[in-house]
Formats: sequence, C-alpha cells, structure tokens
Amino acid sequence: MRALVDLPISLSRESDVPLTVQLTGRLRDAMLSGALATGERLPSSRGLAAQLGVSRTVVTEAYQQLYAEGWLEGRHGSGTFVASMETPPGANGAAAAQAPAPKMARRAVPGDHVINLSPGRPWVRDYDVAAWKRAWRKAADLPPGDYPDPYGLPRLRELLADHLRRARAVAVGPENILVTRGTGNGLDLCAQALLGAGTRAGVEDPGYHVARTVFAARGAEVVACPVDEDGVIVDDLPAGLRVLYTTPAHQYPLGGRLPIPRRERLLAWARRTGATVVEDDYDAEFRYDVAPLPALYGLDPSRVVLLGTLSKSLAPDVGVGWLVGTPELLDRIAAIRRAVSDRTSGPVQQAVATLLERGDLDRHLRRMRLEYARRRAVVVESLGPVCRLRGDTAGLHVLAELPPGLAPRVMERAAERGVLLDTAERHHHGVERVHGLVIGYGSASLAQVRRGCQILAELIREG
Ligand SMILES: Cc1ncc(COP(=O)(O)O)c(C=O)c1O
Repeated sequence: MRALVDLPISLSRESDVPLTVQLTGRLRDAMLSGALATGERLPSSRGLAAQLGVSRTVVTEAYQQLYAEGWLEGRHGSGTFVASMETPPGANGAAAAQAPAPKMARRAVPGDHVINLSPGRPWVRDYDVAAWKRAWRKAADLPPGDYPDPYGLPRLRELLADHLRRARAVAVGPENILVTRGTGNGLDLCAQALLGAGTRAGVEDPGYHVARTVFAARGAEVVACPVDEDGVIVDDLPAGLRVLYTTPAHQYPLGGRLPIPRRERLLAWARRTGATVVEDDYDAEFRYDVAPLPALYGLDPSRVVLLGTLSKSLAPDVGVGWLVGTPELLDRIAAIRRAVSDRTSGPVQQAVATLLERGDLDRHLRRMRLEYARRRAVVVESLGPVCRLRGDTAGLHVLAELPPGLAPRVMERAAERGVLLDTAERHHHGVERVHGLVIGYGSASLAQVRRGCQILAELIREG
C-alpha cells in the first residue's frame, strides 16, 4: 500500500521566481532524485496549499504543468500520482489507504492513578491487535536462524528505505540503511566507528543525556554545544569536534525546529571542519499545523548520519531503529558489529517488516498523530495562560518556561499529587540557562493530561 507523501518543500517569497515555477521545479527535482517515486500519491492541492501557505491556484497550476509534461497522472476520484512508463506499483494503493483502520484493543495498565507526564514516552496502550498478532505469526513461521546479517534483514532495509522516502523525503536505498536496536544502539555504533580516546564529541546543551553517556563511555571528550529557541547555535560550535549530535526535527528538550538557513549553515560548518553530524530524527513523525522540514541527511548525505527509531512511532520495547549513512560507513559499522557480536534480533526484524509491508505502521502513525494532537491541544489550552510554552508545534513534549528556581519546586509538589514530569534544568550539562518544566503528553490518556495540566497550572500560579 502506498501512503500519501509528506513533502518537505519550502518556497521563497523573496525570490523573483514565481511561486508556481518554484513549486513545479521542487516537485520535478523530488521525482528526479527518487524522493518521490513512481506510483506515489501527492497531497491534494488544497492540502499542499495550506501546508505551504500559498493559494490553491499555485498548486493546481504546478500540478497541471507536471501533468502536461508527463510527470504526473491522475486516477479519477483517487488523487494525483507520480507517473511511470509501466503500471505504477501503487495503482490500487489509494483505495487501500481509504480502508477504515481496524479496531484497536485497549490493554489495562496498572498504576493508572499516577499521571506520568515524563517526556520521551509514547502511548503504547492502543494498537491494532490483529495486525500485531499477524506480524508475529509470520515471524514465527520461520525457523530460528543463525547470526543475523549485521546490516539488517534485506527485506526490512528495503522497506525502511521506502518508509524514509515517503515519510522524510530522503532519497535512500537499502545500501544506506543498517537496522539497529534503536537510537541508543545507533549512537553507540557511531561512537565506535567515529570516536575514540582523545576525540571531541559535541552534544546539544541542554540535550539528550544518553548521547553524552554513550560518547563518554567510548572515550570521547564530550563538549556542550549551546542551543536557542530554534536549535543548535552554529556560530557557537566549539573547535575540533569530530562528531556533533543534534536533534533538528524537535530539539530535545527545548523543542525548537532548526530553520532551513541554519541547517545549511550547519552543513557548511561540517564540510569546512570535516566533522560528522549525527542527526537524531527524534519526534520527526509528529508535528502540528507546520510544514515538514527536510532532514539534514537529505541536504548532505556525505556529512550526516541519520538515526531513527520505532520507540516513539510504535513502542520502545520493540527495540528496532535505523542508521542511515554512506555505504563505506555502514561497512565499518558492520565490521564492528561482527567484532563485538552486536545484533538486532532476527524474528523482531521479521515482525517489523510485516508491519511496514502491510501498511500497519503507517495506519498506526496516522491514528496516533490525531490522538497526540488532541493531547497537545489540551496542554496548550491549560498551561498557555500561566506560562510561556515552547516547542509545541512538534513531538510529544513541550517546555513550560518558568522563572529560575520554580521548576524543581513545582516538580516536587506535582510528584506529591501523583503527577510525574521533568525539568529543563536536569537536561543541562553546563551552566543552567533555560528554566522550566519538560512535559510529555505521550504516555498519559487525554483525561490524565487534562487533570495533570490543571494541577500544574495551580502549582505554577501558587509560585
Ligand atoms: C532525544 C531522544 N532520541 C531518541 C530517543 C529514543 O531512543 P531509543 O530508540 O534508544 O529508544 C529518545 C527517547 O526518549 C530521546 O529522548
């Protein structure tokens, strides 16, 4: 089944080139590079116009031009597709995409009286039971195997390449993908391949503590790299970095989305200094009312390693992620995996491949996007009036900015009332510059998010 493509396109209003011409060119480039493949369905003209903030005429004219040039084809009532000489593989995809999602089952979880608003945790209670069981039955059809391929199951690498092209519009093939056990494992493999004693690794500050711990454990000197509202500050990057770890899709924990000009400056810095950027594509699956931004990897695959995970889009206990890089880097990492006997479980990869192949993961993601959007709206509605919120346009957490000293107090009092959460202070590894609460809305129900935020609003007002 082919799902709708998420196009990270940006148009320049300052340019002399008319918007329609710019859009036509961007779409043509995407089809040429393979980011948009044969048979894939483009967004509706209304949807793309809203996403880009342009009039619908701009989009319809661009589509008409591409129809005329033979790039696109339409199927009556089912949308606009990338044309091919042969029968497009997604010919019956549109009908499948409209099929109602199977009924989800609900799993009872103990400890429901605690409202867990800790960041970095997804909702794992609703899932498509039939799809989940089918995936595992298929995996169980195969006998136990020998050591798995260190690059990952070839079928899964193909499917992940397809998934990344559609979800992140990056033109990758299976030769660029290595299947990991998640981002933590991906970071460790990068550290083994790229770092070592005496090397310097930059990590965002405030930032993801796992990156710091993993790099330090592999002997690197970990250096704090300051971030602002938008993400990592390129002009303040320290000298001599061999690796920079960054979360451009939704900075963890401040929530910035790195703007395109800064992405370009970051890549120019990497080319100039020879550093490798490790892009944690954390939270890229979830964004609200804003257009997708291109992955750094897509802008310069020679300087970037992209890490992704199913921990947020499916569940952390599945233990599957991906590392996207050049074939040469992947060869080095595969050799390291063999040397230290590191692997991703074969049966787990088989099950994940089935979930991807049948479109079950796409369906789950579509459902969860709506669910998380509702919870995020509740957070904004409840806390917006009492403090400044940051990072609410993407991901599964927000930062509630508070005056210095207040966040640790609120966290303590909230815990006494059964509400768990985190502070920005705890994510710093240098000087504490940002103060506030880091509130995750992934793993609590809508009602719990509402109740938890009411309690937080009271505590913040009390000061
Ligand atoms: C910034 C960041 N990246 C990645 C992850 C997921 O890591 P893993 O795939 O190892 O579960 C998390 C989890 O909370 C995270 O906070």
